[in-house]
Parts: sequence; structure tokens; C-alpha cells
Amino acid sequence: MSDDELNRLIRQARDHQIPVMKEEGIAFLRQLLQEREEIQKILEVGTAVGCSSMEMASVREDIMIDTLELDPERAQQAVKNIHDCGYSDRIFVHVGEAAEYITMAVYDLIFIDAAKSQYGRYTEHFMENSHIGTLFVYDNLSFHGIVDDPALSHNRSTLQMTRKIREFREHLLNDKRFHTIFYEEIGDGVAAAERII
Ligand SMILES: C[S@@+](CC[C@H](N)C(=O)[O-])C[C@H]1O[C@@H](n2cnc3c(N)ncnc32)[C@H](O)[C@@H]1O
Repeated sequence: MSDDELNRLIRQARDHQIPVMKEEGIAFLRQLLQEREEIQKILEVGTAVGCSSMEMASVREDIMIDTLELDPERAQQAVKNIHDCGYSDRIFVHVGEAAEYITMAVYDLIFIDAAKSQYGRYTEHFMENSHIGTLFVYDNLSFHGIVDDPALSHNRSTLQMTRKIREFREHLLNDKRFHTIFYEEIGDGVAAAERII
């Protein structure tokens, strides 16, 4: 698939208000996969229409991705996009609630980008699908700056959600099972947590 085609899909998704990871966040993931060739099996929590999955899969041909999406219409669009771009043999879309997805697979990278208030729940749920060295990557840990500056929003549900993100971020940074780096300046705030025990 050409970069132009994927860029067109990303633009189209954003035009239709479908949330897609920010460009710098995607560049971060791509660089990570270029540097760490041992990462081959990826679980993505939050497919939307498949843009970040395809960005990751395009880095190397030995990358295989399971990706989880709650919304059936988005999942259907993702399957179509992934098929049209020639990734159907390496990206597998699973429809349903991520926190109820059961698999015996063990992943080298678990990229969490679904319901922001559920990040802790996803992390615990997928611990048994990780190994020492698995990287957990989280997007939106700044949530447009509102996590660190609640005055930026007056919306009650946004403030509740950003409080949960703040609590999760603090918990993750103190979690002894992980070595965590929080990249506040990348995209919408990205954290990479490597499982160390
Ligand atoms: C930010 S978007 C994902 C963007 C995608 N990773 C990308 O950058 O192209 C989050 C997606 O997670 C999905 N989602 C929300 N809650 C979910 C859940 N509990 N289980 C699975 N998917 C969920 C939403 O429907 C939405 O499409």
C-alpha cells in the first residue's frame, strides 16, 4: 500500500470525526517498531477504522496485529480498509468489548487507545497476555491538556474522564511491575510502560 493511500484514509477518517491518533503519536509508534525488531505480535485496543493498525503493520512484514473495536460499523469499515490496503493476512479485527476479549496469545506490544476511563481495566485484563519485556503503550494521557489543567474544560463528563486519566497515569508511573516513560510532548500525551516483573 502506498503512503498516499493510507494518508488519504487518515484524512477521510478525521473529516468524518473518527478519532485517529495524532501524527506525532503515530510517528512515535512507527519509530518504536523500527528500533525494536523483536516486536512482532501486537494487540491494539481501539481500532476505529484501522489507521493506526495499518501504520504499525507497514513498518515491517513480520508484524501481526489483533485489534479490538466495540463499534460494529467502525469495525466493518476497518475490515474493508485493511482488505483494500492489502493487510488482511496480518491485521485481524475483533468486534466487541475489549475488556471481555479472551485469548491465549501473548503480545510484544499492547497499544491501548480505547475508552480513556478504562485504561486500568484493560491493563489488568491483558496482563496475562504479556511477557516480561512487553511494552504497553497508552495514548491521550494528556487529553488536550485538560488532564493537567482542568480549567480548560467546563464539561462535567470530560472532567470526570480526565480525572480518571490523571489517576491512572499516576498509578502507572508508580506501578513497580513496569518501567514507564511518559512523553507529555508527543501527540496527546503518550506513555510507554515496559513490563519488568
Ligand atoms: C481513539 S479511537 C482509536 C483510534 C485508532 N487507534 C487510530 O489511531 O486509528 C478509540 C476507539 O475505541 C473504541 N472503543 C471504545 N470503547 C471500547 C471498548 N470498551 N472496547 C473496544 N473498543 C472500544 C471506539 O469505538 C473507538 O473507535
